[in-house]
Amino acid sequence: MFHSKISGLGFYVPDNVVTNDDLSKIMDTNDEWIQERTGIQERRHIVRGQDTTTTMGVKASKIAIERSGISYDAIDFIVFATISPDYYFPGPGVALQKELGLNTVGALDIRNQCSGFVYALSVADQFIKTGMYKNILVVASEVQSLGLDMTDRGRGVSVIFGDGAGAAMLSRSDDDSAILSTHLHSEGEHAKELAVLAPGMGGRWVTDILADKNPDDESYFPYMNGQFVFKHAVVRFSEVINEGLQANNLLVSDIDMLIPHQANLRISQFIQKKFGLKDDQVFNNIQKYGNTTAASIPIALTEAWEQGKIKKGDTVVLAAFGSGFTWASAIIKW
Ligand code: UT7
Repeated sequence: MFHSKISGLGFYVPDNVVTNDDLSKIMDTNDEWIQERTGIQERRHIVRGQDTTTTMGVKASKIAIERSGISYDAIDFIVFATISPDYYFPGPGVALQKELGLNTVGALDIRNQCSGFVYALSVADQFIKTGMYKNILVVASEVQSLGLDMTDRGRGVSVIFGDGAGAAMLSRSDDDSAILSTHLHSEGEHAKELAVLAPGMGGRWVTDILADKNPDDESYFPYMNGQFVFKHAVVRFSEVINEGLQANNLLVSDIDMLIPHQANLRISQFIQKKFGLKDDQVFNNIQKYGNTTAASIPIALTEAWEQGKIKKGDTVVLAAFGSGFTWASAIIKW
C-alpha cells in the first residue's frame, strides 16, 4: 500500500481587514466582548467583485502547487471543501479546474463545514493509498462575510466568521512522511444547532423566501446555539484526537504540533490544557482571521509551516469540529 504526504501548502486571505471596532460601528458589539469570548481581534472580509470562494481557492492553490514542485499536468484530482460555493451548483471544484488550466481531472466537492478540510484530506489520502492517484490538490475556501446577518440580531454569529482559503498538495510519499490515519465522525441529531436552513429543497426555496417578503425571516442566515456547540466541541475534539493517537500507538507526549480548527480561542486553550500541551505545541491564528470554517485548518497549517514550527519527522495532529455535527482528526508524520 502507498502512503500520502503533504508536498506543498499555501493560503490566501483578502486584504480587507475588519477589526472588532469596525464591527462595533455597525452592530451592538465591542472589542472587549469579542476578544474575551472568542480571542478574535480581526478577520478578513472579501470586497465584492474582487474575490470569490473560487478565486481565493485558486490563489491558495497556486502557492501550494509551486511549493510542491509538482507540475500542473501531474495533478490527478481535486478535492474542494466549502460551505460557501460561488453557485448553488456546480460546486467550485470544477471552477478551480478551469481557472488553474488543469487537465480534465475529477473534481470532488466536499461539504462538511468546519470539518471539511480533514474530510477532504481523508478522501484524498484513500485515493493515494490505493495507488489510483499520485497528486491530489486539496482545497478549502470560504466567503462567509456576504452571508452573515450584520445587524444586532446576528451579532452572536457574525463577529466570529471570516473569509479565506488554504490548499495542500497531497502526493504519494517516497519516504517516511505519511498521513498515518484519519478519523471521521458525524451526529446528525444536532444538525440544526449550527446551520443555514434556507434555501433548501427540504424546506423553503428562494422563491418561497421572496414570496414571503418577511423582514423577520432569519432562515437564510447562519444560526448557532453557541453554548451547546461549545460543550460538544470540547468533548469531540478530545475524543477524536485520542482516537487518532491510540490508532497509531502514540502518546500525547508524541504530539509536536496540534492544529485545531479555529472555532474559538477558548476551545483551543481548553484542549491545550486538557492534554497538557505547551504553547509551542498548539498553533492558533483565529486572532487574525476569525473562524474561516473549512479553510481554518489549512490556513493555520500553512502559517505554522511558514514560521518553521513544523519540521520533517514531526507528529502533527489536525482536529476539527463543526456543523452537522461533524468532527474529524488526522495524524500526520511530517
Ligand atoms: O466552528 C464551528 C464550531 N463552533 C464553535 O465551536 C463555537 C462554539 N461557541 C462559542 O464559541 C460561543 O458560544 C460564542 C462565542 C458563540 C458565544 O459565547 P458565549 O460565551 O457562549 O456567549 P452567549 O451566546 O451565551 O451570550 C452571552 C451574552 C448574551 O447576553 P445576555 O443574554 O447575557 O444579556 C448575548 O446576547 O453576550 C451577548 N452577545 C454579545 N454581546 C456583545 C452575544 N453576541 C454578542 C456580541 N457582542 N457579538
